Parts: sequence; C-alpha cells; structure tokens
Amino acid sequence: MNIVTINTQPYDDQRPGTSGLRKKVKVFQTPHYLENFVQAIFDTQTDLRGGILVLGGDGRYYNREAIQIILRMASANGVKQVLLGRGGLLSTPAASCIIRKYDTAGGIILSASHNPGGPDEDFGIKFNTPHGGPAPETVTEAIFHRTTEIDEYRILQTPPIDLDNPGKISLGDTQINIIDPVDDYADLMMELFDFDRIRKLFDSGMFSMRFDAMHAVTGPYATEILEGRLGAEPGTVINGIPKIDFGGGHPDPNLVHAHQLVELTRGTGAVNFAAASDGDGDRNMILGRNFFVTPSDSLAVMAANAHLIKGYSGGISGVARSMPTSQAADRVADKLGLLCFETPTGWKFFGNLLDGRKITLCGEESFGTGSDHIREKDGLWSVLFWLNLLAVKQQSVEKIVTDHWKAFGRNYYTRYDYEAIDKADAENLMDALREKLPTLPGQTLSGYRVEYADDFAYTDPVDGSISERQGIRVGFSDGSRIVFRLSGTGTEGATLRVYLEAYETDPSKQTQSTESVMTRLVDIALALAEIEHRTGRTKPSVIT
Ligand code: G1P
Ligand code: ZN
Repeated sequence: MNIVTINTQPYDDQRPGTSGLRKKVKVFQTPHYLENFVQAIFDTQTDLRGGILVLGGDGRYYNREAIQIILRMASANGVKQVLLGRGGLLSTPAASCIIRKYDTAGGIILSASHNPGGPDEDFGIKFNTPHGGPAPETVTEAIFHRTTEIDEYRILQTPPIDLDNPGKISLGDTQINIIDPVDDYADLMMELFDFDRIRKLFDSGMFSMRFDAMHAVTGPYATEILEGRLGAEPGTVINGIPKIDFGGGHPDPNLVHAHQLVELTRGTGAVNFAAASDGDGDRNMILGRNFFVTPSDSLAVMAANAHLIKGYSGGISGVARSMPTSQAADRVADKLGLLCFETPTGWKFFGNLLDGRKITLCGEESFGTGSDHIREKDGLWSVLFWLNLLAVKQQSVEKIVTDHWKAFGRNYYTRYDYEAIDKADAENLMDALREKLPTLPGQTLSGYRVEYADDFAYTDPVDGSISERQGIRVGFSDGSRIVFRLSGTGTEGATLRVYLEAYETDPSKQTQSTESVMTRLVDIALALAEIEHRTGRTKPSVIT
C-alpha cells in the first residue's frame, strides 16, 4: 500500500456557496485544487475515518476523474468503506437516501446541479452530513477555514479502478462497494406512493405523460421507476441517457430550457402530464396540458392535499419555504393550522426543521420541492407526488390548481435573472437598496403601499444560529412582494435575482396572464434598484 503525502498551498476561493463549491471545470483541474478541498473535508469531518462514505455525482464532465481522485484520498484518509454509485452516478436525492439508510458518516456529491457541463463549463462538490442533507454553515465554514491553511494532502498511489461493475473492490484498507444507483431510491418511492393506483392510471389508456431527463442523471431513475415499476409506455422518458455535457443543453427544468417538453403539452395530441428534472435530479418542473404549475404553487398544492397521498396520510406537521418563494404555502398553512417557516435560500436551511419534525414538506421557487423522506429536494419524488394526486383525484392538473386558487387565493409569481453582471456593480446595487430601506415603509409606489422593507435575517428555531443579509424584501399592503438578492451558485460575475409576487383572492381575476398582472410591480422593481442604470442591462437574461 503506497500512501503519499503531497505538499500543497491554499487557494483563497474555496468557500462553499448556496450549494457546495462550484467553479469552472478548468478551475477544478488546476493542480491540487480538488485535492485541497477534499482533504479539508477529511480533516474537519473526522467521523469519516473508520466510517462509511457515500460517493457519486451527476455524471457531468470531470465526474469520473474526480471520483478516482476522491476514492484514492478516502483510502489514504482511513475511510472504512465507500458506497459508490455504479459509473460514478448518484442523483442528489438518491445520495441523500443512501447516506441515511446505511448509517454512514456522510457523503460527497459531485454536481453543479442545473449549470451546463463540459470542459469549459461548471463542476461542483459538496459534503452532506450523516442526516443526508447539505452540510450546515458551521460545517461549510469549518471546511472553508481548513482550505485557507492547508499545506498537504494524503493520497493512495494506485491505478484507476473500474467504476462500472457492481461489487466490492479493495483499495488499500478501504472497501469500495459499487452499488446500483437506483434501487434504494426506487424502493423508498414505493413506500411513499401508491404505485398500484398510479399503474392503473397508466393502464387506463386515458392518460399520457412525458418525463424529460434532459440527458442528466435522472434518466436511469425515471426509466426504472416510470416505465419499469409503474408500467408507463416505453418512450415516456425522453432524453433519458445521461451525457457528460447534457447533450449540449442547459439541464435546468424550466419553460426556457425544457422547451421541447413544453411543446409536447400543447396542441392536438398533447400529453396530460409532463415533468422534467435537472442535472443532479433534485429540481422538478410540473406541467399539465397547456398548463404550467409554478414551483411555489406546487408546494402549496402538495401541502393542501398531502392527506390524500399514502406516505403522508397521517397528516403533516408543517411546511417551510425559502424567503423568495411565493407565500402560497403560507395561505394553506394558515387555513389548515400548520406550522409555517420562511427560511433563507438554500436547502440546507430546511435540515434542522425536518430533523426536529417541525415540518414535513418544504420547497423553493427555484423548482425545488421535497419532504422529510430525505434531506434534499427531490425531483422524481415531486413528479410521483403529482402522479399519485392525479390518480386519486382523477382531475386534470389545471383543474386541481385552479380549484386550489379558488380556495386559497392565487399568488401570481415570476422571477427575473440578470446573469453575469459585474460583481462590484451588483454589490453597489444591493448596498444602494439597503440604504433606501428605512425610507420605504408608508410610501406608495405606483399605487402599491409599502408595508415593510428589510434585509432578511433568519434565526434557526432549532439551534439558534443566525443568518443575516439573505435578500431584500419589499412587502406591500395587498400581500404583493418584491425580493432582490444575489445568487450564491453562479461561477461568472454576479447574478441578480428579482422575485415578484402578486396576490389575488377574486376567482374572476385569477386567470389573467402573469405578465400583465406584473407590469406595475416590474416597473417598481426596476426603478427601486435602478437596474438599467447600475448594470447597463435593459432586459433580464432569463424570466422564469
Ligand atoms: C439557486 C436557487 C436556490 C437553490 C440553489 C441550489 O441558488 O435560487 O433556491 O437552493 O440554486 O439549487 P442561488 O443561485 O439563487 O443562490
Ligand atoms: Zn440540482
């Protein structure tokens, strides 16, 4: 056994963002860059020595190379066993499931989520703790701090191993157990959802569906679960073969990037139900025939109907949403007497609430919904939840959602992203907004009266930790809202996100176009943040 210690020097840019460390592939390929970060994980997460580590990624460019490096470092750092997804693949939700199921010391997930893949695109790495969720800030800060002082790492010198055959391999004193990436996850889904009922829906001949895996990691999962275990017709899963560059696409399930799928829900022969997932399988988009369900509404509909779904029929304790997510779920919680929490952006903030059983369901406007079954958002879980609901209700997606609006009001919602703007410009824009905050309450802007304006801060109700400067909220007296924040996942310049929400309780006004309802709020947002003047942008890069 040949363990070597390699001298290295710290990099100063290894602080994890909203979801792990994300950089261009080229950055990860600089000598010792990946190794430093991985050694910082082993140095700070000491239970990994002698413990079980889960390892896998979304299959993007550099996934296999990174896996080989991490395996050799895991061995050199005394990990007892590595549970590795075959081919180096594990979706983020499957990794969370496996971390929890096998009493492990945590997992390393390689992914840049919905960001494009390829030699000039993005790569990422994150550590999930033994409860299965993304490491909380105390842990990511400890890892980051270690990267700033690191001077050596340990690695086993050995040739690459074959990642593609299930079974056990010894690497030094470490056992590498190559497992089927889908099985454990699919079994968990069968516990939560009524597969017999969903199978009957597919068998009825009256129902058709397409799932767009966007050439990313969920292809094998969706094929096994939908076409295999649920008997959906072959071809239900499209773009189902994972590719290292996602077929040149942008594996982000929204109306812009999943347009091929959107087309299948329109016109004659349109399918009844369509859904898509992202690079690593934690995001989802839900579509009915000619109908788009906003992720914020999806969470609210789930909360209102959870009692109809097998795994949640005993009732749910509460619901949480990230701050910029629309308040649709709050309306449901209000009416049903559920606990309700508003957290900063990023799934890691749901972890304590889920562990403490304060909530059962949670979600983000960024196409993420999930529950206490794991500690990550879960794309296919969301799709199965909807399928189960459709099978129970025997109604269209549109009918379910419009009925929901009648009962709870509609939260019109849209998000404007300004990508790759200058970092300093973005910081200045946010600073200028912060300065305006005290003067806003009580002012009327284009007919909207400002009720509150603040920079969102969150105190975790379980461990008391405080997270400040999490985004600027401007709330109006009619329940409408504008939120401004800078992305924590980008790899180029800064991304400004502007989130807009308008609340409508009158059913006769609930079927207008979102664009027309938002016009005045958009104008207010543009003027308040002086977006054109400060960024030079006349249009957002993406509207979702
Ligand atoms: C984005 C989303 C956020 C999500 C994260 C990881 O982060 O806005 O809701 O948790 O990706 O998928 P952001 O780039 O806004 O920091
Ligand atoms: Zn993702």
